[in-house]
This record gives sequence, C-alpha cells and structure tokens, in this order.
Amino acid sequence: MTKKDILIIGGGGREHAIAWKLKQGESVGKLYCIPGNAGIAEIAECRPDIRATDFDGILNFLREHRNIYMTVVAPDDPLALGLVNVLTENGFRAFGPTKEAAILESSKVFSKNFMKKYGIPTAEFETFSAPADALNYIKAVKFPRVVKADGLALGKGVLICETLSDAEGAVRGIMADRRFGKAGDNIVIEEFLRGYEVSILAFCDGATVVPMVSSQDHKRALDGDKGDNTGGMGAFAPSVKFDKTLLPRIMRDIIAPTVRGMDKEGRPFKGVLYFGLMIDGDDVKVLEYNARFGDPETQSVLPLLRGDLLDIFDKIIDGKLADAKIEWEDKTCLCVMLASGGYPKDYETGKPIAVGGPDNDILLFHSGTRRGVDGALLTAGGRVLGVTAVADNLNAARAKAYANVGRISFDKMHYRKDI
Ligand SMILES: Nc1ncnc2c1ncn2[C@@H]1O[C@H](COP(=O)(O)OP(=O)(O)OP(=O)(O)O)[C@@H](O)[C@H]1O
Ligand SMILES: [Mg+2]
Repeated sequence: MTKKDILIIGGGGREHAIAWKLKQGESVGKLYCIPGNAGIAEIAECRPDIRATDFDGILNFLREHRNIYMTVVAPDDPLALGLVNVLTENGFRAFGPTKEAAILESSKVFSKNFMKKYGIPTAEFETFSAPADALNYIKAVKFPRVVKADGLALGKGVLICETLSDAEGAVRGIMADRRFGKAGDNIVIEEFLRGYEVSILAFCDGATVVPMVSSQDHKRALDGDKGDNTGGMGAFAPSVKFDKTLLPRIMRDIIAPTVRGMDKEGRPFKGVLYFGLMIDGDDVKVLEYNARFGDPETQSVLPLLRGDLLDIFDKIIDGKLADAKIEWEDKTCLCVMLASGGYPKDYETGKPIAVGGPDNDILLFHSGTRRGVDGALLTAGGRVLGVTAVADNLNAARAKAYANVGRISFDKMHYRKDI
C-alpha cells in the first residue's frame, strides 16, 4: 500500500490530537503541519513561518510538496475565509467545509435565521444592524439577555447581560466602539437559556451525519465555573450529565434538519459540525454551531475513536460516509488544560516548561509551545498543554490526568482543579 502524506492546517491542541490520531492510520505516511507547534513537531514536519490564513503560502507549500494527498483545515478563520474552496479550485484535496457552509459558525445572524427557517429549537432572538434599534429594543426586554457579535471574535463576542445598563454597554462596545471590528457590524440579542451545556461533534458528508461521543468543555478560567470565559480549560468525553436517551430526539429535531437544511440552502456541509447544546430537563436547544472540531473537546473525543481517521475524512470528501465504520471505546477521556497565569487576559510567554516523565499512557497535547534556540520547550500561548488520560470511568481518568499534571511545571502555570 502506498502511504499517504497529509498536511494539517492549525497549530493548537486540536491539531495535535488530529495529527496523533491520523498517525495511527495504517495508510498514513508523513505528516506536515502549518504552522504547528513544538508537540506537533515531534510527529509532523512543521512550518511555523507560514500562517494558517496565508493562502498563497499554503498553495506554494503544496506545489512544492506534490506528494501531499490531503490537506485538513482545522481552525475557524481559514475555513471562514474559504481555504477549502481555494485549495479545491487549485486541484488539491481538502477536508473541511467550504466558506458557504462554514457560515453556520462565522455568522451568528445566518445561523439564527437558518434555525428559525428550519424549525430547529434555539433561544428566541432578534438581529440588528443599527445600534439605535438595538438600544431601543432592549428597553422592553426581560433580563438576563445575551448580546452576541455576528462574526468570529475568538470566543469573546458573547456577553451575558444581567441588567439594561450591561446590555447598553454590550451594544455600544460591539457596534459603536467596534471592539471586535467587522465581526460586530451586526448583532444578535437573545433570550438567556438555563440548563447544562453539552457539545456534540458530528462527522458529516453533506447528506449522512454521524455524531461522535458527547463531550463537556469547561469554559471559565477558575474552579467552580468562575472567572472569565476562555477558549476552554479542560474537557471530558462522554459528558456525564448528558442523558443519552435524548440522542434520538436530538438527531431527529436538530442534527438531521441542520444537515438537510444546509443542503437545501445550496450549502452542503462536509466536515465536522459542532452542536453546542443547552439542555434543561428534556428541553434541548442549540446555543451555537461551530464548523470544525472543538478545542479542547477534540482532545477528549479523538482518543476514544477506534479505527482510521483518514478513512473517515476520505469518505466525507467523497460523500460516502454511510460506508464508514465509526466505533468508540467504552471508556472516558479527560483533558486538563495547563494555561499561562493571567490567561485569558494578559499573560507572559517564553517560560521554560519542566516535564517530569509523564506516565506512558498519558497523552500530552500541545497548545501553545515552541522550542527555544537551545531546544528547550517553552510556553508560547495562553493555553499551553493538555494533559489527557483515558480510563474505564471518569474518576479514574481524572485521577490519572491530575497525577501527571503534578509532574509538569512552568512559571505562573495555572489550571483548573475541578475538570
Ligand atoms: N442564550 C444563551 N443563554 C445562556 N448562555 C449562553 C447563551 N448563548 C451563549 N451562552 C453562553 O456563552 C457561551 C459562548 O456562546 P457561543 O457558543 O454562542 O459563543 P462563541 O463565541 O461562538 O463560542 P465558541 O468559542 O465556543 O465557539 C456558551 O457556551 C454559553 O455558555
Ligand atoms: Mg462558536
């Protein structure tokens, strides 16, 4: 069998987990990653000098590496900007949704109107393109309310407002002060939902859709769900709160209509579709869609996938997902994120990381790391390392992950003790 070389676009823990899982496939040859990080560099050739949104740089790289069989586009920005379209138009095989399909994540106004049109349950909402209209509207609503910038805003464009004055501040910050630039040209103001959150990622080839095991992220920076929202401080899969008997209904009322609706819109979704759900008793609503693997959910989901990830990506691209064999370990995977002190606000980087012999079966997925000139492992981002363990149940996975967290240290290292 000729081995297939793969290029992965992105450079965080999600991309490390994807690279690690791809690498196990029998047919996978050499891995490349743009830009990558120090952990990914242990299993892939990385190009830290090319950005994930540098389409010309990526095209040139592919022209110089004709051996590459497929490019996997993992992060939101290049997907929203149409990297998959550009690669495909240039004759390269690419995994991920087109820009027309990724709009499900890149425009909250689009996704809310889409859900309304197709009867998919979500929080009640209004959309606005003029601040005066939004300011007028909030005078007559009940609080709390949620104000959301339409576009991508690094997970910071969602503001939960307890009072009218909070909401006025949010509208002004997003629309008048343009805190998120163009992403805030339009906003969504929606009802505040109560309940617990579950993430369901699904493989989707435009017609067939196969959900992965459920997972649970921990967005807030501090123990007990306190502090600022972050990109995610840890995750486990499957989610313990999630009542699996809800799944057939979620499939019927949410997942299947989303996929059919996107096809009807002439925007067939091929890739990984992420459903952020709010569940209250047996009431399930969609909080948001993402058009990609979640980070850190991916670090806790992919270690439970049996079999060959490249085969699944291939079948998605070819519209043959119905033929894929997708099976999961009956285990729990838990990932604890080690972050730079101060994150998600200001933090320092370039701190040497001491890693004292993690257990053999621990997975260390790198988020923000790089090598110094002397080869030393250094911090290079807000989120630094994901310490990930698989075990028979949640308690065992948690104990194993935290035992290994204790062997890693860097100056001002911060992590949650309650994942
Ligand atoms: N209507 C709502 N009611 C209650 N909480 C909400 C609501 N909308 C959003 N949230 C909270 O805000 C978080 C972020 O919202 P959302 O997922 O829409 O934003 P995002 O910026 O796209 O996030 P991500 O970075 O996960 O893609 C949610 O995970 C949830 O905790
Ligand atoms: Mg989102």
